[in-house]
This record gives sequence, C-alpha cells and structure tokens, in this order.
Amino acid sequence: MPRKIILDVDTGSDDAVAIMSAILSPDVQLEALCSVAGNKEIEYTTENTLRVVQLLKADVPVYRGAKYPLVKFLCPDRLPEDEHLEVVHDGKVVQMHSDYLDIPEAKIKEQPISAAEFYVKYLREAKEPVTLVAVGPLTNLALAFRIDPTIVKNIEEIVIMGGGYNITNCTPTAEFNIWYDPEAAEIVINSGAKVTLVPLDATHAACITLDDCKRFRALNTVAGKFIAELCEQRIIVHNATQPLDVPDAAAVHDALCIAYLIDPTVLKDVRHVHCNVGFRDFCEGQTILDMRYFTEPANCWFAFDGDRFKFADILCDLAAKSEPLAE
Ligand code: BDR
Ligand code: CA
Repeated sequence: MPRKIILDVDTGSDDAVAIMSAILSPDVQLEALCSVAGNKEIEYTTENTLRVVQLLKADVPVYRGAKYPLVKFLCPDRLPEDEHLEVVHDGKVVQMHSDYLDIPEAKIKEQPISAAEFYVKYLREAKEPVTLVAVGPLTNLALAFRIDPTIVKNIEEIVIMGGGYNITNCTPTAEFNIWYDPEAAEIVINSGAKVTLVPLDATHAACITLDDCKRFRALNTVAGKFIAELCEQRIIVHNATQPLDVPDAAAVHDALCIAYLIDPTVLKDVRHVHCNVGFRDFCEGQTILDMRYFTEPANCWFAFDGDRFKFADILCDLAAKSEPLAE
C-alpha cells in the first residue's frame, strides 16, 4: 500500500525535484501540495508548484499557503536581508532558485481554500493516518495546529527538511527553512506527532554530483531532463558559494525527504533527541539539540548523515518512470 502524504513546498529548485519524486513514486500517494512563502514570495512558489504538477500531467490539488511567517516580520530587526544566491557562469546569471521555474506557465489552477484550512479539514476527516512532508518554512502546519491541535492524532509522521547541527547555511547558526519562521518550527516540532528532521548534515552528505546528472539526462525522460537541469544549476551555485566535500556536487535537500519515505536507510545516524528552536539574536532559527547525558525528553528524530549513492539511485529510478521526451 502506498503511503499517503501531503507535501508542503516553497518551490524552489530542490522543492521541484521533491514534487516530481513524490508524483513518480509508486510507494507514495500524493494527496495534495501546499505552497508557502520562503525561497520566493507566495505568488511565485504557488505558480511554480502548479507548473511542476502540470509538467508531469499529475492530478494533484494545490493549496496556496501562508504569505508571511507567523510573527517574525512584525519585528523590524528580524526582517530577512534581500539576499539572492546568484553567480555568473559562462556569461549567464545562475541562481539557486530563479523566480519562475523554466517550464511552461501553469494553465491548471489552485484550490479555492487556503493550505491551513485544507490541513484542518483533511486531518479532521481522515480515516487513516497521513504523513506530512514539509520542505519549506513551517507556517502552514503551525497555523493548522493552532486552529486545532487535535488533528495530530491523524498524522503518522511529519518529515521536515530543516535545521542543522554541524552545518548551517542562512546564518552562522541557522538553516533557512527554520530561520524563516522559527516560531512555526517550534510549534510543529512540539506538536506531539512523530517528527523526523532531515537537516543539512544529512542533505550535504547525500549530495548529487555532475556524474549523477549525466545519468538523469541519459534517461531521456521529462523528469530526467528537468531534474538534471535543476541539479546542474544548484551545483554551479554550490561550487561558487558553498562548495561541498565532494567535488562538483550539490545538496538537493527537499528531495531527500521523499527518498527517505521510499528507503529510510538513505538517512544515516538518525538519533532520537530533544530539539528547541532559537528565536532571537545570534541563535534565531537554530535547531538547538540537547546532547547532554541527562536530556529533556526526546521530541524528534534527527538525521546526522545521509547516503549519497542510495539517494542518486532512488532519484534515477524515479526519473526513469516519467514519460519519454518528445522527439
Ligand atoms: C532549504 O531552504 C531552501 O532554500 C531549500 O528549498 C530547502 O528547503 C535548505 O536550507
Ligand atoms: Ca524548500
């Protein structure tokens, strides 16, 4: 039986790979996609999400989510810096996430209710538990838990791309998704659901290389080509701004969460720990793990490592299931 999931995204290049993976996997039944502001404003992340669904001709409803984080933007000193990770490569500007994904504009439409309303309605009525996979800021889920905390009983697991222990990317202490809405992350991690964090420690270890991209492209499928393009774009930016230990490689963070649902051993060194999120000053958005001998009770599973060979094989198998490219 495929596992029912709802995928929450701020699409985004690696979000796009996660969406395609979820659509293509026979182990996963993608019930819905919810957009959220993060990598880009909500107008872009929603349109990009629709574009990916349309590209793969999938029949998956898309719900528009939160335009702003819960409270962060109320504090002028917490506003994000207007920083775009872009580099010039072969005379062209390349970004980690361009405003719009370079695929046809969406003709399909989003659903008429918001993501938070959808979560509450869906989870109240659910006859069997569903897994939530959140690969953007956690605003939508936090809103839903604030409206009705009892919905947690119908959640099998919440898989979150976010956080970092030895690796951070947005500030010296924080990973982007958690940093963008720290209060939301704290609410979700402490919701009482089984929470699995897929942090930068795992996503950087399970990186995708240029050689992997060659394999994806050689499949000659719609998803194979697009995944190769997105990963290559990410490798260019990683090489220039945050080179990994493996040469010519990039983290494709969000898709690792879907790979974990297909084969949990793609995450390694997964430990049951207590995590709180820092809200202010130097630790804003930090996933603070209690690593003392006598700790607070564990509230999440945290992956300290990942298997890049397994991850690349999983992505390749999924991309092979997509339709062949037109001649
Ligand atoms: C996370 O931040 C976003 O830029 C990516 O899509 C990913 O979800 C990595 O820190
Ligand atoms: Ca994301």
